[in-house]
Amino acid sequence: MSYSPYLLKGQKALITGASSGIGEAAARHLAKAGASVVINYHSGKEAAEKIVGEIRAEGGEAIAIEANVAKEEEVLKMFTEMYRQFGTIDILVNNAGLQKDAAFVDMTLEEWNLVIGVNLTGQFLCAREAAKEFLRRGVKPDISCSAGKIICMSSVHQIIPWAGHVNYATSKGGIDMMMKSIAQELAPQKIRVNSIAPGAIKTPINKDAWSTPEAEAKLLKLIPSGRVGEPDDIGKAVVWLASDDSDYVNGETLFVDGGMTLYPGFATGG
Ligand code: BGC
Repeated sequence: MSYSPYLLKGQKALITGASSGIGEAAARHLAKAGASVVINYHSGKEAAEKIVGEIRAEGGEAIAIEANVAKEEEVLKMFTEMYRQFGTIDILVNNAGLQKDAAFVDMTLEEWNLVIGVNLTGQFLCAREAAKEFLRRGVKPDISCSAGKIICMSSVHQIIPWAGHVNYATSKGGIDMMMKSIAQELAPQKIRVNSIAPGAIKTPINKDAWSTPEAEAKLLKLIPSGRVGEPDDIGKAVVWLASDDSDYVNGETLFVDGGMTLYPGFATGG
């Protein structure tokens, strides 16, 4: 994929959970489009530093900052460090997320809180900090026609219920309403807030679902397009939603799912 390196030139982007999977792809694509990127990580220090090195080797600007997005003090520290090194923020990709699956009646409060804490509260904390800076700085027309862009990583499970994953599906349903409410509140200040809802993408989070031929065949029954998604599929969507090319898109969810939300079971039934 090649972008004009001027598409996001001068823009500073923070991607949470960027040491692997979708976050990593988002960071690499944003950097290719000219943005300076913060690779946020929680446990993947080495991986984050490797990504930073590779982006720099290609002429991009990148730094790695550690933070658990579920912890307010760590989020505040991460933004302070980003402003120290990059001065401001133009793009937030609220990506960090995890699964802690369990049958509903066996789900512990700890498993519930962990997933809601990272996936939903983490997005709230980061969005709030980014929005404060967008409002303080306002629009810089030579950088972007927007005062700032927030992209929330949701999931097809913001609309598809998911047995055995009640904490995860709830967090994604919450992201949808949080995203739209922030978008409604901040649109007059020229801030755009949108979500991407990936389907099954080949990342560490769902390795069991695609890494053997048997598992992949089962998964493909849910995907009309006939292939499991790649992190790059999402990286490209992130760049578009972060750029002024999507300036009139606000409060929307872009489903990038190979048709998973088309109720494939109804292709032959119903
Ligand atoms: C989940 C994956 C799952 C996909 C489709 C994602 O949000 O994290 O584990 O494969 O949705 O069901």
